[in-house]
Amino acid sequence: MRITVCCSDTKAAPWVDGLQAALPEAEVSEWQPGAPPADYAMVWSPPQAFCDDQPQLKGIFNTGAGVDALLKLRLPPDAVVVRLDDAGMSVQMAEFVCHAVIRHFRELDAYARDEAQSRWGFRKPRLRADFPVGVMGLGVLGQRVAQALAAFEFPVRGWSRRARDVAGVQCFSGDAGFADFLAGTRVLVCLLPLTDDTRGIMNRATLSQLLPGGYVINVARGAHLVDEDLIALLDEGRLAGAALDVFRIEPLPTEHPFWAHPKITVTPHTSARTLREESIAQIAGKIRAFSRGEPIVGVVDRQRGY
Ligand code: NAP
Ligand code: GLV
Repeated sequence: MRITVCCSDTKAAPWVDGLQAALPEAEVSEWQPGAPPADYAMVWSPPQAFCDDQPQLKGIFNTGAGVDALLKLRLPPDAVVVRLDDAGMSVQMAEFVCHAVIRHFRELDAYARDEAQSRWGFRKPRLRADFPVGVMGLGVLGQRVAQALAAFEFPVRGWSRRARDVAGVQCFSGDAGFADFLAGTRVLVCLLPLTDDTRGIMNRATLSQLLPGGYVINVARGAHLVDEDLIALLDEGRLAGAALDVFRIEPLPTEHPFWAHPKITVTPHTSARTLREESIAQIAGKIRAFSRGEPIVGVVDRQRGY
């Protein structure tokens, strides 16, 4: 079995060596134009030339959860596309989102400003009941995040395409459930995949439906958010703030108004990083299972877009 590795913005060598060690029976190498045809590929953001060069691929294993960049390409027609299924990301996402929610809820930025002035002052405790958190996307990451927030006793709501039942989470689904979901949410967390249906889903019309003093946490993809609408709603006082980890253009350009906005916190797409060892172990296991004809989880529905 031959496996080709194509990682656009990271060094391929550690991935090649790791996958080779995990699959000694395979021949693993970094893709170069004109490389011999492979059975499987392990990729992150490959160029179109890679797909054109390897039309015979049977499986493409993405080293991330989101496949929006991959699905923009003309992919080898028969290749099964497989996304990372947690692989150590859900706990990172849970800690990141809980931190963002608690930082806002407990007014930790205001305490940091007090500290800078050696000021000892209390703020009135806020009630969790006044801070319902709504998680858009109840998949691998969204469910873990929702349950972590519920463990801190926040009222948690969740929204997905199909109806879901998640312990401790009030679940809504589909277009029919979206308005009710938003209307009872004060802190909105985006953990949707980026698809034709979800692009620009956080805009003036939807964000205006949140409870007063809404707060936005985007940890999915930058294009879920309409940047100008967020800034306008913050400046009008309709929203209280935002924690943004993902952006339409990454790295976020230095002149982008998000950087300097006093109500926005920016982090560099770091909420849940791909962990190399876990990811290689997962992908190696799936390649073995797939090549034996066994079912694997994380197969992407190309039509649906995730
Ligand atoms: P997932 O398991 O595929 O879950 C996606 C969830 O979104 C599912 O609950 C799905 O509904 C829901 N959904 C999809 N389209 C919808 C629609 N039109 N309306 C309502 N709900 C919809 O994905 P995941 O592993 O949790 O990852 C989610 C996303 O997080 C990734 O696609 C990626 O963009 C992002 N991500 C970001 C980072 C980071 O560092 N910032 C790291 C990893 C991933 P159903 O349950 O009905 O299918
Ligand atoms: C990161 O953003 C991922 O999709 O894994």
